[in-house]
Amino acid sequence: MRPAIRAARSDDQAELVALDELCFGPAAWSTGAWADEFDRLSEDRVVLVADEGALVGYVVLLLPQVALDVVEVLRIAVTPAERRTGIGGQLLTAALARCAGRTVLLEVAASNESAIGLYRGFGFEEISRRSGYYGGGEDAVIMRWRETV
Ligand SMILES: CC(C)(COP(=O)(O)OP(=O)(O)OC[C@H]1O[C@@H](n2cnc3c(N)ncnc32)[C@H](O)[C@@H]1OP(=O)(O)O)[C@@H](O)C(=O)NCCC(=O)NCCS
Repeated sequence: MRPAIRAARSDDQAELVALDELCFGPAAWSTGAWADEFDRLSEDRVVLVADEGALVGYVVLLLPQVALDVVEVLRIAVTPAERRTGIGGQLLTAALARCAGRTVLLEVAASNESAIGLYRGFGFEEISRRSGYYGGGEDAVIMRWRETV
């Protein structure tokens, strides 16, 4: 069964905190950080979830700031047991559908082959690197997507 992709609701918050912990371990966002994300849903955040009874994935977008037409993908993850089944692609498809006519940027660790593979498949291109950006000295890769017409 393919999960439904839908906007997050406030009652998803506890489940998202647990899923984020499962996906990112010590780099997970805290309960407070997730509460901030939910507080900003009416302002500049979009949180989409992949729901198959339980939540199995999510994507968080930062919408354009004043005078800028750039959306940022802040986070995307799929529960480890269901990776490589197309859910990340489903989430990114739904996210990019909300970004028509805009530029989308994201930042990813240079060693994160699964995420980079996903992004490249959608036409994201590397535009720069931040040397030693992450703990342990790992580079951040900045990638950009623009809708092709
Ligand atoms: C990145 C992530 C969201 C991908 O989700 P997913 O559901 O596994 O992705 P999909 O099954 O839709 O894969 C789509 C494409 O991405 C690429 N891809 C996904 N996983 C890959 C891997 N391990 N190695 C290489 N390419 C990969 C492939 O091109 C794949 O297409 P294919 O399966 O037809 O070859 C998932 O691996 C994840 O949650 N990682 C941990 C969290 C994370 O690092 N997030 C990104 C930074 S915020």
